[in-house]
Amino acid sequence: MIMSQPSITILGIESSCDETAAAVIQNGKILSNIVAGQDVHKAYGGVVPELASRAHQQNIVPVVSQALKAAGISKNDLDAVAFTKGPGLLGSLLVGTSFTKSFAMGMNIPLIEVNHMQAHILAHFIEEKNNSENKKPSFPFLCLTVSGGHTQIVLVKDFFDMKVIGETIDDAAGEAFDKAAKIIGLPYPGGPLIDKYAQQGNPNKYKFPHPNIPKLDFSFSGLKTAFLYFINERVGKEPDFIEYNKFDICASIQSTIIEVLLSKLKKAAAESEIKEIAIAGGVSANSGLRRALELEREKSGWNVYIPKFEYCTDNAAMIAITGYYKFLKNDFTDQRTSPSAKYSM
Ligand code: KG4
Ligand code: ZN
Repeated sequence: MIMSQPSITILGIESSCDETAAAVIQNGKILSNIVAGQDVHKAYGGVVPELASRAHQQNIVPVVSQALKAAGISKNDLDAVAFTKGPGLLGSLLVGTSFTKSFAMGMNIPLIEVNHMQAHILAHFIEEKNNSENKKPSFPFLCLTVSGGHTQIVLVKDFFDMKVIGETIDDAAGEAFDKAAKIIGLPYPGGPLIDKYAQQGNPNKYKFPHPNIPKLDFSFSGLKTAFLYFINERVGKEPDFIEYNKFDICASIQSTIIEVLLSKLKKAAAESEIKEIAIAGGVSANSGLRRALELEREKSGWNVYIPKFEYCTDNAAMIAITGYYKFLKNDFTDQRTSPSAKYSM
């Protein structure tokens, strides 16, 4: 007789910044993935922490209900609930953490705490229901994690054995996109819009300085300042400069950010002699970065792993998959847990 495997069903909850998200993963396979964004920040040109917490408070119950419904399961089918402990905005994290603690207590199921940055990386291990697109990186691999708050190169030796070998000393890559976008009058978050306009522009039209930072670390604040001076100078001479050159400006700043990221990633790959290369985080949704990695696959013989678009930006599927692997190790927490804005890996 063939014994069937017991199924392990995990609910994941993400609330670290401005997305309220819930997802269900069963035996590593995605059953549902719901994300509610927060348009309220658009008018302010960035995330307003107080407004983010309030929106999480409004969204969390409907988002969880929708995730359970879309997964076709009842809350009684859950084996554990995983949540983002940090890093992130404290007020936002408190909503997800408090909800999850109450939910776990009410349902009498274990609680699993998840590091958001680790989860971005483990998003590569989410399996689709139909077994398609299941190419996963093998250990050890390098992951370039690029989001609105972080820019890191991580040496991933195992699911929970990760070492940050390079990181930004000031702004994150996502911040560089968003700040450049703000300078040319685009709404927050500007990264996706720069990506969209860049597709119609000439990446070599304008040149911006590359930072000279030792080792595997990054810096983007000098680029932001150089970009601001460049735009001010050109607009001073030609008031419609941005309007007439929007596509080329976006293509040029995007290609500079990508060159900076790629040069350090190549250095890390050469030094570690690792050819398993992954990207993660919101900026890994960028089509220029994805293309640049595909080129490197051919040029350098890398095996490149790029997550599905919906697993790049903040989501709870990545929290649920991390929860699943922690469940397999019996790595649970208890009701004394609390969020940590600067939680490190
Ligand atoms: O990982 P994420 O959703 O949230 C954080 O943990 O920060 O990343 C958000 C960041 C924002 O800065 C956003 O502008 C950027 O990712 N982003 C992009 C693209 N999509 C999202 N940047 C460039 N191109 C994109 N297509
Ligand atoms: Zn993130």
